[in-house]
Amino acid sequence: MSHDGSAAIRELAQGIYQRGGSTINPSKPSVDLRPDSINELARSFWHSAILRAGIKLNLFSFLEGNALTYNDVAQRIGAAPRFVQAFLESCVVLDLLEKREDTYSNSPLASKFLVKGGKEYIGDHALHHTNTWASWGRLDEVIREGKTLLPYETGYVDAATYWTDYMMGQHNRAASGQARYLVESVDLRSRRKLLDLGGGAASYSIALCGANPQLKAVVVDSKEPLEIARPLVDEHHLRGQITLLEGDFLQTKLGTDYDVALISGVVLIKSEEDSRCLFKAAYDALLPGGMVIVQDYMRIDHSPERVRLDTLEHMYVMVAFDPGAADREGEEVASWLRDTGYQNLKMIPLPTQLALITAEKSV
Ligand SMILES: C[S@@+](CC[C@H](N)C(=O)[O-])C[C@H]1O[C@@H](n2cnc3c(N)ncnc32)[C@H](O)[C@@H]1O
Repeated sequence: MSHDGSAAIRELAQGIYQRGGSTINPSKPSVDLRPDSINELARSFWHSAILRAGIKLNLFSFLEGNALTYNDVAQRIGAAPRFVQAFLESCVVLDLLEKREDTYSNSPLASKFLVKGGKEYIGDHALHHTNTWASWGRLDEVIREGKTLLPYETGYVDAATYWTDYMMGQHNRAASGQARYLVESVDLRSRRKLLDLGGGAASYSIALCGANPQLKAVVVDSKEPLEIARPLVDEHHLRGQITLLEGDFLQTKLGTDYDVALISGVVLIKSEEDSRCLFKAAYDALLPGGMVIVQDYMRIDHSPERVRLDTLEHMYVMVAFDPGAADREGEEVASWLRDTGYQNLKMIPLPTQLALITAEKSV
């Protein structure tokens, strides 16, 4: 990113931060001064609750290809018809369902993204996001004490649900397009051994090994994610190519014979210090000429919509992952890679919310 670009984004972000004060943000129309703006903000969690309930009740999956009355739906889920009717009407106004006469069916949006087993299903990711609800509900306390509240620490979900939704949510993202973008953006045809640090459900090792049959991968993560990864690796018949290694990636002996390392979705949820240690661990594990791939939320695209998302995402990772976590400038992450000794950095924006940085260990 150019220095001019960084300056522009800082100004834009500052504008957003200072909207309540005297700074005028030129990218925004003048602020709507009706009380409805505040009321709408206050009620916006209702939308999230309706989406979450629809996924948890499996509504969109059993409505796919079916048009049912509210009484049919109530019978199907064993629920009170009056509540079901109000709920289905709420789904209609949020464009999740369509109503014809007295029957309800999926909207195109729900059909595309909320039907279990669908190619672009992202319901688990929505559950993962909404699992942090009670943590957000205590945001004043979180801010005052500068602490993170994991969803199972609030009691809102248990640890097993947390890990399943978290990992399947990451896998939804990979399977619904991100893995294809990664595979298309990195040429691994001459690479033999991949180290996938914090590999989670092994989603990207699965994609990269599937696309590069000569490649073997070692996925390092803790017990819970690897339990989710194992059946996914089996489902893709990749047991011969992918090894799951349980452990802390900063403590475990990783070996020194990798020619590519992947760090995906980890920098966002770690402090600068941990991220730098992780880059060093990857560096030490790589052979000379080895490639590191960092895939993450990073500010490379600086559109106003993106600034809004990144600003909220920054708060989210502090609330729900680690007090040192941050949504960062791509250039900042790049500087840590350079400090570690990596060369030939390439910043690669993607058509999704994630971006890539690739770099090499010197020969
Ligand atoms: C956001 S997920 C990303 C998973 C996967 N790389 C992906 O992109 O879908 C972050 C992963 O880092 C793992 N992780 C965090 N700290 C770790 C550590 N110290 N050692 C091993 N894994 C860790 C988490 O368990 C989680 O699976």
